[in-house]
Amino acid sequence: MTDTTVIPAGFYKDYPALLSPEGLEAMREHAHRDPDGFWLEQAERVHWHKKPTRGFSGSFTGDVSIRWFEDGQLNVSVCCIDRFLTEKADQVALIAHREGHGPAEKLTYTMLHERVCRLANALSHLGVEKGQRVAICLPMCSEAVVAMLACARIGAVHVVLFGGFSAEGIAERLVDSQAVVVITASTSRRGAKMVPFKETMDAALQRAGASSAVHSMLVVRTSDDPVMMLPGRDHDYHGFVDHFEADFVPVVMKAEDPLFMLYTSGSTGKPKAVVHSCGGYIVWAAYTMGMVYTFRPGDVLWCTADVAWITGHTSVVYGPLANGGTTMISDSLPGHPYPGRWWDLVQENKVTMLFTAPTAVRSMMAEGDEVVLKRDLSSLRLLGVAGEPISPDAWLWYHDVVGQKRCPVADTWWQTETAGVVLGPIAGAQPLKPGSASTPLPGVDMRIIDQQGNTVEGAGEGALCIARSWPGQARTIWGDHARFVQTYFGVAPGQYFTGDGARRDADGYYWITGRMDDVINIAGHRLGTAEVEDVLGEDHRVVESAAVGIPHPVKGEALVVFVIPRKDAAGELTEEGIGRFVAKQLGRYAAPEAVYLVPDLPRTRSGKIVRRLLRKIAQGETENFGDLSALNDMAVVKTLCDRVWAQS
Ligand code: WT7
Repeated sequence: MTDTTVIPAGFYKDYPALLSPEGLEAMREHAHRDPDGFWLEQAERVHWHKKPTRGFSGSFTGDVSIRWFEDGQLNVSVCCIDRFLTEKADQVALIAHREGHGPAEKLTYTMLHERVCRLANALSHLGVEKGQRVAICLPMCSEAVVAMLACARIGAVHVVLFGGFSAEGIAERLVDSQAVVVITASTSRRGAKMVPFKETMDAALQRAGASSAVHSMLVVRTSDDPVMMLPGRDHDYHGFVDHFEADFVPVVMKAEDPLFMLYTSGSTGKPKAVVHSCGGYIVWAAYTMGMVYTFRPGDVLWCTADVAWITGHTSVVYGPLANGGTTMISDSLPGHPYPGRWWDLVQENKVTMLFTAPTAVRSMMAEGDEVVLKRDLSSLRLLGVAGEPISPDAWLWYHDVVGQKRCPVADTWWQTETAGVVLGPIAGAQPLKPGSASTPLPGVDMRIIDQQGNTVEGAGEGALCIARSWPGQARTIWGDHARFVQTYFGVAPGQYFTGDGARRDADGYYWITGRMDDVINIAGHRLGTAEVEDVLGEDHRVVESAAVGIPHPVKGEALVVFVIPRKDAAGELTEEGIGRFVAKQLGRYAAPEAVYLVPDLPRTRSGKIVRRLLRKIAQGETENFGDLSALNDMAVVKTLCDRVWAQS
């Protein structure tokens, strides 16, 4: 198959399309002609205490200010729960499956309301006030969803931290965010591995010391493992929370009050938290998820992303609930404890929409077709992917074998900063092209900018930018607006730069070519190579290091690290030890695929490391290096090639 395969819009005979091709065109046209009117109409998707009268206010130039629905007032937990309490009181809102814990827990909208209110009361009792930050570091369990919504209810800003982060990584984020309360778990299993949530949190708080503002911790007992509790600070989640009242009057928020912040990686070493605000975010979550996934009675959406990522926020929690849907979470891993585990979960829970990462598709594809074909997957109607590029052959496998050519595959492109789908198909209303994230949603003004900074018209390739704000756009980087402006508005003045490169074909379909900065994507997890280099720089035995991403058959990309040891420390530093150190400092997801101790790195005459060359060498290439005339010293190339070859 080539990347020119086109599946026509009408291919899925039984698919209940949300819109006709003409309907989709009409929406695009409306958004283009009257953006304010269009977005105010979309704002009707959620419940407002006070309806907004304006769409966007702000500017993409100068200091950059992004504000949406400014005079509106609302509470996001009301948009996701209370407004469904009459109509859908007994509909299941959340299915929470935990491996090894028996049948999945099911919470109706009524039950979700009760739990969220109890926690909202408990957090208030602990002194949490509107605008303060609450850190949530939990495995995939119902309390994670409840915690986010309880923060929203009291107007606290949630900061969800990934359980795979190291104690150092968590400490850094707790200090930066100045979170006052932490909600975490005892221990949890991830596949065969035990994840020590509480222990890691204790270590993080010890490390942060007086720089942290945390005064209380709620601990969900997610296992029977013993757990150390610090009297006065730590509380058993259910022992504490379940005594509080099951009702809490939601705090009315201004549209621009922050809802949450979320850490992500960029091209500098320090992780940054992007800030999302209540009104724009929830409208955008409702709109994007309603457009791409649509929620019909009886639908069950299983998005396999961890809540700690933006997909976990928008596609697991806020998008499905704002649409009155049923969302499913699970802490299971594909292929664990046996191949086909996920297909059993689809079958058992009658999942109608499955949304996962290409890396999971590739790993399940490797298990063979038999594993899929043995199961009854007839409940499925729509398949989705996001987070990294999917090759046409993996797309077609997902489509043909999992979906039996019945279910459209929606490859959606988005980011922590965009908060929801920006590029993605409306199934049934437009053709699909395997390997392409298709076209911008109505209202998104996507551009391709060439090297001279000019807008490319028609087919062409360049930097992927967005020329006009959208409601779910990140407002700033927490505590560093200058960095926000510089990172996202420096490439094409007056436009948001995504960090990605893309090609647009003659039909207007987008093909992502990958990051243009030094950010790599390991199994859907974003990692800045500078983060790795910074961590290695902390070791005094390391003179310099360079981290690069190379293609990996399952993970998409893998991390390879080159390290120049100090001469007198050469015997002490081992490649294995360095690998362990990186994983310990940053988190397991950042464990390098390979580490090479080398005497020097390829540089230009001005001393800049030539990463392009390192990437090729790390992939085992020994020729076709392209133009090397800028190199300072050619001999280092041979030394590096020999080094990589000796190991492979
Ligand atoms: C980066 C953002 C989907 C949200 C979760 C990831 C890459 C994302 C795709 C896709 C090719 C993709 C981009 C983007 N990416 N979706 N469908 N095809 N690449 O959010 O962690 O902020 O990462 O993921 O490089 O910039 P994130």
